Amino acid sequence: MAASLPATLSHASNITQRKGPVPIPSLLQSPSSINSSTVSFSPFSSCTTTSSYSLSVGPRRRCSSKYQRLKRKGFHVECALGEPLKVMISGAPASGKGTQCSMIVEKYGLVHISTGDLLRAEVSSGTEIGKKAKEYMDSGKLVPDEIVTDMVVSRLSRQDARERGWLLDGYPRSYPQAQSLEKLNIRPDIYIVLDVPDEILIDRCIGRRLDPVTGKIYHIKNFPPENEEVARRLITRSDDTLEKVKSRLQTYKQNAEAILPNYLNLLNKIDGNRTREVIFQEIDSILKKVEENSSSSVQLAKTNGNSFTNFGVASSKSVSWRGIPTRLNNIPHSREIREYFYDDIRNSTRRAIEDKKTRLKVEINIPELNPDMDVYRIGTLMELVRELALSFADDGKRVKVCVQGSMGEGALAGIPLQLAGTRKILEFMDWGEYGAMGTFINIGAIGRDEVDEQDDMFILIAPQNAVGNCIIDDLQAMTDAAGSRPVILINPRLKDMPSSSGIMTTIGRDKRMEYAASFEICYYFRLLYYAGSFYPIMGALRMAYPKGYELFRRVDEPNGKEKYVIIAEFPEKPTATEINDAFAGRTRKKEKTAPGIWGFLSGIL
Ligand code: AP5
Repeated sequence: MAASLPATLSHASNITQRKGPVPIPSLLQSPSSINSSTVSFSPFSSCTTTSSYSLSVGPRRRCSSKYQRLKRKGFHVECALGEPLKVMISGAPASGKGTQCSMIVEKYGLVHISTGDLLRAEVSSGTEIGKKAKEYMDSGKLVPDEIVTDMVVSRLSRQDARERGWLLDGYPRSYPQAQSLEKLNIRPDIYIVLDVPDEILIDRCIGRRLDPVTGKIYHIKNFPPENEEVARRLITRSDDTLEKVKSRLQTYKQNAEAILPNYLNLLNKIDGNRTREVIFQEIDSILKKVEENSSSSVQLAKTNGNSFTNFGVASSKSVSWRGIPTRLNNIPHSREIREYFYDDIRNSTRRAIEDKKTRLKVEINIPELNPDMDVYRIGTLMELVRELALSFADDGKRVKVCVQGSMGEGALAGIPLQLAGTRKILEFMDWGEYGAMGTFINIGAIGRDEVDEQDDMFILIAPQNAVGNCIIDDLQAMTDAAGSRPVILINPRLKDMPSSSGIMTTIGRDKRMEYAASFEICYYFRLLYYAGSFYPIMGALRMAYPKGYELFRRVDEPNGKEKYVIIAEFPEKPTATEINDAFAGRTRKKEKTAPGIWGFLSGIL
């Protein structure tokens, strides 16, 4: 069946190979198409099984979802395997770093590394380092970088910090310190800065007292000791005099800005002039989001002796994304990336249908699924549709997969270029070895006559208008006939198309648009770029029913990797201005328009 593709179908070539007994290389069309992350093959090839893989014959076991099959083959998909948290906290003297750190440690169990505490311990132990450091500390100056950096790096490299995660307090404090960390590829997941007005800082320093027994931080007015016994043993830090505080503040200001560019992507500035509980609440919710990102990493791991290459899966290394897949500008998308999205879409669509939603749409525009990009692949779209349809068919549902046929008459007849050949691909595609095609999966077009009594649900592939022809009337007739049965539109494009006759843009336009909008989004994913470009990726917007919209910022990591960090959530689809504001760290104001480079989204959402 691995016949060569007709020319018109050639860009369908990334549909996942689904049959096993034949070694993959023999199915490839040419050795040059072998790629470490993607196996090119014909859409006509069939199910991913090997000779050792047996299935009972029956409609519900035809060819289940990719993950189920991988699991049976000894692969498993693990979640919640994120790395431990890495947090940096910064702020002026007495901004409350130490106070918040003890609350963070209590909740998250991170290893707290405070350069101030480490230095004070050296001073009180009378070590050589302590003797050198003391004079700098007493004058409110920074201790030389090499002393502090060595201390921090050796503490960070200890096993507890690597295993439990770390909370770096008061480091880096200068540009060279930040650069030292960069060189060692040490970066946090999040950079928190506590912001407090100067006059408050001075009062906090002067009133601060420390308990040498418990290490607890008190303040004579704000947080007085619990009892007389504690009060008697409290000490005042030698650098907490008015004069020294002023000098420390000045030193802080001179250096703070130089560090910021290193962590701009990770920056979370927090108002530190509130009660410590309120401040902690905010920090806590930020850390939870970072953790959520981390725990939703998908890891495709090998659990037995089977080789990944038998399946064309990237390599024996596990795949780990923090939040959402990375390297989305790399084409072709690896199988793991495609599967992440198929799985995400499958899950959210299922949840929506379980909630009795019947008019749904999926909008995803990763480069291979974005018709506006020259790397668009109809094969990826077909593969997505197949995964979705088979997963419902696995549940015994009769799914009709529909693609619109020719519209219009005479010289105006035709179908959108994007869908050319799609019907043929669908017919020739592998739909499993156990007779799914014709029973649980049927192929149809779009229109009232396509709705049969036995159909349980309908998946419509990229329904769209063509020049001079509008699909919406056929679509509406079809959904009317479908009644309460689910109809899922995959990447619909129902906006007006320009036409020389002007027909589509005039007659009944409002009604058509209203109808198109009546489909509820159950999955949405789009990459965000700076205005007018497709590089670099700035972030992503994702919605997976029933959750709201999550806005991610793409962050470059010094080791050449990247990750996506969640920066905001919205109950409804955010406007371009709201997204721009979130990226710029501004409080959302609807009336604002997006200026300059942040205007990257205008007009596309
Ligand atoms: P370090 O110990 O780090 O001092 P700092 O940065 O000046 O910060 P503080 O410890 O004074 O304040 P904090 O922000 O932790 O506030 P706290 O929670 O205690 O460094 C000391 C010295 O070491 C430096 O000057 C330098 O010489 C040297 N050094 C350190 N790191 C270095 C580096 N990387 N490179 C070179 N040299 C380095 O709170 C302060 C007070 O406010 C307390 O009394 C507390 O109870 C109160 N308070 C806290 N939160 C609140 C709140 N929300 N409302 C009211 N009161 C509050």
